[in-house]
Amino acid sequence: MIELDTVTKAFGDRTVLNGITATFAAKSVVSLVGPSGGGKTTLLRCLNGLESFDSGSITISGVTIRAGGERHNRAMLARLRGRVGFVFQQWNLFAHRTAVGNIIEAPVHVRGESVKHATEHAAQLLAKVGMEEHGAKYPHELSGGQQQRVAIARALAMKPEVLLMDEPTSALDPERVQDVTELLKAIVSEGLALVIVSHEMSFVRAISDEVCVLHGGSIVERGAPHEVLGSPKDPRTRAFLGMD
Ligand SMILES: Nc1ncnc2c1ncn2[C@@H]1O[C@H](COP(=O)(O)OP(=O)(O)O)[C@@H](O)[C@H]1O
Ligand SMILES: [Mg+2]
Repeated sequence: MIELDTVTKAFGDRTVLNGITATFAAKSVVSLVGPSGGGKTTLLRCLNGLESFDSGSITISGVTIRAGGERHNRAMLARLRGRVGFVFQQWNLFAHRTAVGNIIEAPVHVRGESVKHATEHAAQLLAKVGMEEHGAKYPHELSGGQQQRVAIARALAMKPEVLLMDEPTSALDPERVQDVTELLKAIVSEGLALVIVSHEMSFVRAISDEVCVLHGGSIVERGAPHEVLGSPKDPRTRAFLGMD
């Protein structure tokens, strides 16, 4: 379970997260949607401790991070990052490492697993994401969709309870979106929670248990995808979806 309690964040005098209080169920898929600049990426980064916030707290599976950043949360951040995986918009694979090398990096260097054990696990993960043939390849030898699969396998290698994804479809060819939808559904069926930022409403509809609309740093509407995307109540949601 993910709990946000009055999370506030400003960049300079610009409030980006405006006292967000929300609970997201375990083992569910929550999508964050809304206009550009609404705070979606910042919220995602706060959930993984990549970004500090100014007041409030975030609790994920019993680990609580408070305002004040690294200095105040060192031990908790280490625990949080073990539970929360992040798949970046541009995947951020290590260019000089193979797919397997990317996947075993954190298990070996952060968690202290043996290279042998981590490599065996990497092979299983590559099979899970449909990339078993490609373990010895470097990122530049892989397509965008394949790199994304490696990035997903890399995040799963740390056995997270929550996976955060920023715009997972934005750099994919349209015909690959269905593939990643199916992959993510398979991952969720094994018990992970997903929090996804996306602009692609057909994808959001297909993947989400719940949709949250972030506007000006606040969640202005949330609910089942057919409700929020089909018959939104808040005028800001309606404007975002081009409905009025
Ligand atoms: N590191 C930063 N420094 C200053 N302003 C930032 C930074 N990151 C984001 N912002 C600002 O915060 C606001 C929210 O950004 P973001 O979370 O990226 O929104 P979204 O992902 O919904 O488009 C924007 O106005 C953006 O310019
Ligand atoms: Mg963003």
